[in-house]
Amino acid sequence: MANGKRSWAEPFKIKMVELLKMTTPAQRAKAIKEAGYNTFLLKSEDVYIDLLTDSGTSAMSDVQWAGLMMGDEAYAGSKNFYHLEDAVKKYYGYKYLIPTHQGRGAENILSQVMIKKGDIVPGNMYFTTTRLHQELAGGTFVDVIIDEAHDSQNMHPFKGNIDLDKLEKVIKKHGAAKIPYICVAVTVNLAGGQPVSMGNLKELRALTNKHGIKIMLDMTRIAENAYFIQQREKGYARRSVASLVKEICSYTDGATFSGKKDALVNIGGFLALNDKQKYEEASNLVVVYEGLHTYGGLAGRDMEAMAIGIGESVGDEHMKARIGQVIYLGEEMLKRNIPIVQPIGGHGIFIDAKQFLPHLKQIQFPAQTLAAELYEDAGIRTMERGIVSAGRNAKTGDHYYPKLELVRLTIPRRVYTQAHMDVIAESVERVYERRNKIKGLDMIFEPQYLRFFQAKFKKLG
Ligand code: F0G
Repeated sequence: MANGKRSWAEPFKIKMVELLKMTTPAQRAKAIKEAGYNTFLLKSEDVYIDLLTDSGTSAMSDVQWAGLMMGDEAYAGSKNFYHLEDAVKKYYGYKYLIPTHQGRGAENILSQVMIKKGDIVPGNMYFTTTRLHQELAGGTFVDVIIDEAHDSQNMHPFKGNIDLDKLEKVIKKHGAAKIPYICVAVTVNLAGGQPVSMGNLKELRALTNKHGIKIMLDMTRIAENAYFIQQREKGYARRSVASLVKEICSYTDGATFSGKKDALVNIGGFLALNDKQKYEEASNLVVVYEGLHTYGGLAGRDMEAMAIGIGESVGDEHMKARIGQVIYLGEEMLKRNIPIVQPIGGHGIFIDAKQFLPHLKQIQFPAQTLAAELYEDAGIRTMERGIVSAGRNAKTGDHYYPKLELVRLTIPRRVYTQAHMDVIAESVERVYERRNKIKGLDMIFEPQYLRFFQAKFKKLG
């Protein structure tokens, strides 16, 4: 055995497969041009390996599929709602649950019940839908993540951490009364799936208690964050992922959750709260936007699959294989000198497009360009997470120019094999070899909201 290292492998076997269509280079060139060089506008059928997102794209277990058959499709008081409520209490410890159709449904409700016009909402780097709902409710997002998070090569083990000095300055400047809550994401998606340490959360709780400020978690990838705490933070190596997940939640007052990631379902989410009065306001508002407070836009069967998926998501062996696969791909990239965000994060590999295509200006959309090139090479679909995703400043109308200009290769859970990972790394290497010849893009259509989903581009030159 080479250097005594033991390999990980998946704690499951495959019972059913989904067949894929193989395409030619000419077909792919035509498809991406028709999609306006935006990978969101490609037809899924034309994609070979789909790394657009880990959201709603994971494979359910046989137990989850069986759960679908146990759907109680009553309008009110479905038994699946109570199963979900039990799971949320058992694994996360929150008192009150409001299901929503997905994460952003919960963000909308939370923002509306908590944020007043003129409020400030600090957070550890923005997420697209989260910030938009804060802004639509009249708030202004302020980034208080540590500076290391904005540097793709900084090896800090917890690049999702909140900079408590930055936060104190924000509190001093605006006053605690203007801050309804701080939004803490575990892990931080746009920083590259980077975790927050338990130590940082404890310190944050102490600081916010002093000022009477609430902490709302974006717990979309909390099990992945817990795994990194187990692997990297002193004193936590012997703790189970499940117990770390519950401890993280214990330092917070509530959470929004997209079940489409950690919880291994295709659709679903929730808002969880500990405050009874806020819960009552939220459960009244949810009937306006989502559905009755015992289904929130979900079928009974969806709630059942999510309740089961939550339990599966906190398994130590599950997380070891999940993150193990992401790290495997990251190491294959590093062997080929591909500039990626380090340390390797939880839900995917993030290529630094500014380093990959140094001859392009940010306004020539290097990450968007690279995502289109990767599709053309081997039919691998990835996502831009740079200037297009960052959007424009709502007040000045100028583009935000984020420091990180990334292409995200997001790995769905339990879907692809190690051989797929090899094909991906080889394709990226091939595009890297011809990087000097790659020209940028020009934006020819820009929608008003969340432009990255629907914007269109043409090739420069
Ligand atoms: N918060 C985080 C950190 C997310 O990554 C997402 C979704 C949401 C909230 C919103 O949840 O999609 O269920 O409404 N992220 C997806 C992605 C879209 O591809 O990263 P949703």
